[in-house]
Order: sequence, then C-alpha cells, then structure tokens
Amino acid sequence: MSDTATALPQGDESQITGKSIRLEGVTKRYPGQTTPAVDGVTLEIPAGQVVMLVGPSGCGKTTTLKMINRLIEPTDGRIVLGDEDVTDIDGDQLRRRIGYVIQAGGLFPHMTVAQNIAIVPKMLGWDAQRIEERTTELLDLVSLDPDTYRDRYPKELSGGQQQRVGVARALAADPPVLLMDEPFGAVDPITRQRLQDELIRIQHELRKTIVIVTHDFDEAVKLGDWIVIFREGAQIVQYDTPERILAEPADEFVESFIGSGAGLKQLNLRRVRDVELREAVTARPGEAAADVLARVEQAKHGHAVILDERDRPIGWPSRRQLSRLTTLADAVDETTPIVGQDATLNDALDEMLVSSAGAAIVTGRRGVFVGVITVEVVMEAIRAVRDAAGDDIGGAPVGTNAEVTQDG
Ligand SMILES: Nc1ncnc2c1ncn2[C@@H]1O[C@H](COP(=O)(O)OP(=O)(O)O)[C@@H](O)[C@H]1O
Ligand SMILES: [Mg+2]
Repeated sequence: MSDTATALPQGDESQITGKSIRLEGVTKRYPGQTTPAVDGVTLEIPAGQVVMLVGPSGCGKTTTLKMINRLIEPTDGRIVLGDEDVTDIDGDQLRRRIGYVIQAGGLFPHMTVAQNIAIVPKMLGWDAQRIEERTTELLDLVSLDPDTYRDRYPKELSGGQQQRVGVARALAADPPVLLMDEPFGAVDPITRQRLQDELIRIQHELRKTIVIVTHDFDEAVKLGDWIVIFREGAQIVQYDTPERILAEPADEFVESFIGSGAGLKQLNLRRVRDVELREAVTARPGEAAADVLARVEQAKHGHAVILDERDRPIGWPSRRQLSRLTTLADAVDETTPIVGQDATLNDALDEMLVSSAGAAIVTGRRGVFVGVITVEVVMEAIRAVRDAAGDDIGGAPVGTNAEVTQDG
C-alpha cells in the first residue's frame, strides 16, 4: 500500500514537466447568489502530481477548476502558476499554457482530428511541418494510429476515441498543466477503465500537473496522487492521499462520501504492475497453426498470444481454436481480454470475468505485450489486501499537505 502508480519516486524531480498551482483565498460569487459557489479556497497543487477534486453535485468543483484557467473569473483571491501570479494576465494567453479536457472530448465537429489537435499550435504560429509531426506524435501517445485517424471527423469516432483526441488536443502545445472536468463521464465502464489506464500511462511519461474533477470516488482513488474532498462552497473537508483518506476519513461526511466497503476500495490501489505475470507462447500472423499448437502443448499452456508487427496482442486462440486453423489470421480479435499494466486488480478481474478466460493479456507502453495475468494471482492479491485492510495502514503520508489551509 506504499505508493500509487503515479506517486513520485524520491529524488526524481528533474523529469517533472508540470508546474505547481496555488489558489489563495479564491472566491466565486455568481450574480444573484446569496452564498458564494466557491468560498475562499486556499489550495496547493504540487508540480507533476495528479489531484482529484471530488464532492457532491453543486459543491463548486467545476467553478474551482475553471478559475484555474480563468474560464471563470474569480471574484476574489489569487491564482499562482509556478512562480507567476496569473490572476490578472490575459486569459487567452493563460489558456494556451493550460490544457483543458471536458466530457466527450469537446471536439469541434466540423474539423478533422488533425485540425482539432492543431488549434493551439496554429494560434502559437507553428509551421505546418512542426504541427504535422506533433499531431503524429500525439495520436501515437494516445494510442490512435495516426494514418487511420488523422483525417477523420469526430462523428466517425467512438466516444472513447473522441476522448483520446480531446486529450491529444489538450496536450498539443505541451502545457505544464492539464485540467479535466469529468473527462470519462460519457463512456461505458470498460472504455472508461481503459481511458483511465491510458491517462496513468501518459502521466508516467509526461509528469504534468493534472487536476481532475470527478463525482466518482473510485475514480479519484484510482487516478489521484491526492484527493481533495469538497463540500458546499468548495469547502475543503479533507486533502490527502487516497490511502490515508480511505484509512482515516476526516469526518462522517467523508465516510458517507467514500461509501461502504472502504477496505475493498483498497483494491483500487493495487495494480497489475504490482503482481507477478505469467509468460506466454507468442506467435505471428501467417504462422502455421500446427506449429504454434505444438509450442503451446510443449509449454503446457492453454493459449497462444498473436502479436502484430509492433508486438501488440491481436488475438488469443485456445488450443482448440488452434487445432481448427491452418494459418494464424492477422485480423484483430476484439474479444481478447487485455489490460494495461496500470489497470487496477479490480479492473483486471472485470476483464477476466467478461471474457470468462480466467486470465487476461497484459500490455505496457504503446500497447506492447508484456505477459499474462491469471485469476489465481488476482485472488491471492485480493486476499492479501483484505487481510491487510483489517490492520492499521496509517503511518507517514507520501507527502505533506501542511500548506493547505482550510478557509471559511
Ligand atoms: N454560471 C452560473 N451562474 C450562476 N450560478 C452558477 C453558475 N455556474 C454554477 N453555478 C452554481 O454554483 C454552484 C457550484 O456549481 P459547480 O461549480 O458547477 O458545481 P459542481 O461542478 O461541483 O457540480 C452551484 O450551486 C451552481 O448552481
Ligand atoms: Mg461540475
């Protein structure tokens, strides 16, 4: 229970590309409101970390987020980005340095994927070749094949693909800060899980400062290095690591927000990369099925993993299926259970249950095959977590929130 996937290794601060964000006594009073939507919030968001803003509907999460890039102007207080007070600088200039992602990506429907991604680089005056190279790089980063998707329109993409493009667009000019407002609210649970894993992986590479609004506490536990729990008026009830909030909820409000089964939610903290994977027999499209079957039998395995030219799994035929084939096809089998290394064990279990294979293929960076996770390994880890959840898992926090004061 020591660190989450995005926790910062000690002494590794050189790779952080994010900047810290400080809200100092920030208030928003909408016209006609008797009580402020956001009431004197002071909040320190550390550079290179993922901070989740959670709380009930209407508590001021979106208003707080939009004051960071000044889509909403604060009534009072200061906003500091890195060392720079940005409260009064030009808002458009500020927003070019802060990526912003909303539900379903918020893409412009009349623009292609490439045109959507190019918006900020164009405003910054980049030349065509630089924009094109950046677009390719970003589509690759969010796991969309550039040649396939560059010229498509948003309506030709699934919800999850639109969301990926939204993230690519927000990252286009390499901003130090990324703001996301319920980014995965509009997609189905399996797609949401994959997008969450993808974001964790991207953050491993980029080390931005990311602030995410969600009303889903499980999502906050999964993605956050830190969680801020708000109540009405964006009053901070608790600001701590997921581990500590689960172990020591500040009060009954937080307890009720966490919901029942806090112990089981600890499972959302264990990840596929934390457990031992099994090796697998791998094969390539075009190979003779009989040869592959012989290797599978020799290894006493049940399946072979078919990998494409970039070592990404595209299929997972069983012995039985292999015995009925002559050569291995190069078509992608969409039913193949695949989880990323950053997926939680809960997610891995879901994927296995859906596919009823009792195991799932694990992929790493750029979707490359790394091994197989079995249901036995997951059940063993779940038992260990359950046993530990009974104990006091307190102790030193991963960081400090001493700078955070509770206002109001
Ligand atoms: N443009 C607006 N004008 C007036 N009141 C608003 C406006 N936007 C939000 N509010 C009010 O401010 C409060 C906080 O809203 P919001 O920040 O959207 O909360 P959350 O994102 O946590 O659901 C709510 O009471 C909401 O009704
Ligand atoms: Mg909101």
